[in-house]
Amino acid sequence: MSELKIAIQKSGRLSDNSHRLLEECGIKFSNGTSVLKTRAANFPVEILFLRDDDIPQYVEQQVADIGILGENMVLEKNKNVAVLEQLGFAQCRLSLAIRKEESYPGLQYFNNKRVATSYPRLLSDYFTENNIKAEIEEISGSVEIAPGIGLADAVCDIVSSGSTLMTNGLREVTTILRSEAVIIGNKKLSEEKKAILDRLLFRIRAVKNARENKYILLNAPEASIQEICRILPGMKSPTILPLAEKGWCSLHSVVKEDEFWERIDQLKSAGAEGILVIPIEKMIK
Ligand code: PRP
Ligand code: ZN
Repeated sequence: MSELKIAIQKSGRLSDNSHRLLEECGIKFSNGTSVLKTRAANFPVEILFLRDDDIPQYVEQQVADIGILGENMVLEKNKNVAVLEQLGFAQCRLSLAIRKEESYPGLQYFNNKRVATSYPRLLSDYFTENNIKAEIEEISGSVEIAPGIGLADAVCDIVSSGSTLMTNGLREVTTILRSEAVIIGNKKLSEEKKAILDRLLFRIRAVKNARENKYILLNAPEASIQEICRILPGMKSPTILPLAEKGWCSLHSVVKEDEFWERIDQLKSAGAEGILVIPIEKMIK
């Protein structure tokens, strides 16, 4: 029987979240601290633990069928693979940073400077578009120490919390790309593998929807129900149940995580009381 080979990062910024996503999709497997690959116990997939930098190439060559990694790496490697889904975690940016004590007159700062990066393709495209002539020093890791050891004047690297830059005495001056985790796939999967992939993507979307939404319950006077339904349209429409107290009902719906606080204020002014907000585990639209 056919199985889908999924590449995830062995260790790094994406590995815990990639692991958790698959687990929340109900896929059980042991982690990759000592092994390079493992089979899931209850779903037809094999998990390969790889360096994220290698995943685009392996997916193109179908060493893996799909991979979970940062879009930054997908764009840098520019391999012939399909981006199947944005995953909503591991948000970061690819930025240029200079020594914190240097003054920064604007992008022209980089003319005739040496810039260390693991993203030579994206950086050289960016410099070309902006008419900057700089020397790009490609290094594969620990880019942020390059200015400190005299290897470069500046760096172009991934920034998430910003703490790596700070501890290395660097400051971010401009962002060239924003990124988050994505799933990429080989473009020529067999029908059998596509069927497994569809089942997996269905589960991933249910997990993503659940993370992006909250279940909300509240009490409201009957007279406010129409207005509250406008504020909380729900998946189809809200559920409304009568309360024991006459003239009141309980209303159940879902609300988007990023609209949550704004909606709560509107609900309170519409007369809602006793508002409960509950995380959703899976959400199938
Ligand atoms: C990036 C970057 C920094 C770190 C920044 O590494 O190279 O080391 O993240 O994060 P911070 O702003 O929160 O300190 P990443 O894991 O993307 O690259 P790698 O696969 O080369 O380790
Ligand atoms: Zn890496």
